[in-house]
Amino acid sequence: MQVTIAENYQALSKQAAEIVAAQIINKPTSVLGLATGVTPLGMYEELVSLHKAGLVSFKEVTTFNLDEFVGISPLHPGSYHQYMRHRLFDHVDINIPQAHLPNGAAPNLKQECREYEAKIRKAGGIDLQVLGIGRNGHIGFNEPHGKFEAFTNVVTLDSASREANARFFSTPHEVPRQAITMGIRTIMQARTILLLASGFEKAQVLAKALEGPVTPAVPASVLQLHSNVVVLADEAAAQIISKINTGQAAIDFG
Ligand code: F6R
Repeated sequence: MQVTIAENYQALSKQAAEIVAAQIINKPTSVLGLATGVTPLGMYEELVSLHKAGLVSFKEVTTFNLDEFVGISPLHPGSYHQYMRHRLFDHVDINIPQAHLPNGAAPNLKQECREYEAKIRKAGGIDLQVLGIGRNGHIGFNEPHGKFEAFTNVVTLDSASREANARFFSTPHEVPRQAITMGIRTIMQARTILLLASGFEKAQVLAKALEGPVTPAVPASVLQLHSNVVVLADEAAAQIISKINTGQAAIDFG
């Protein structure tokens, strides 16, 4: 695991975008796994700038997003489909049929999950998976105490995840209770993983994920078992890991 600490959110976003751009330049037909949420917003902005500057083309890239809410249309303004359109897809030269998100409005959700997994496999697997981390340690919507061996599946969101996503909906009541998410196993099969963490509210969980025991109680801790993970954290998110690494703190993860 390679941990890089960026000075602030802007530097983190720039470095993250450069890693993604380098992946695409090295392999124009790359398969990218993408995340939504607040953390990668700056990275998408930087990627759009790199594209507009003529430095990177998404023409041959295939993308698979980690997750989508169940029970809302891809056209709903709170959907991750719309997030991706507005933040990235509408501003770059990606071939839209190659930009995939699970369909949370599919009539048969189990079949949707199986087909999503099959599409990832057919595309040759994910070269670079971008992840954020939830305050409860989730990656994708793999909430604490789920199974590490899960492929893409339907999950029930815990209250922390529903609260974190309430900003996308007009009332808290409207926040979906379920989502389709790539499973931990889907994520672990990516060839390279880029985990982004920003802000002090992620410091505790990032320390648990990187330095604590590998446990389904902290889903992101499974990344310790992956052979090719790059962690990019800003100074605020890295506060606790820096202290552990310099011997200034011993954390009781019990
Ligand atoms: C998003 C996703 C989530 C987020 C995580 C962090 O597609 O799967 O795991 O990455 O909840 O969200 P932010 O970045 O909003 O703190």
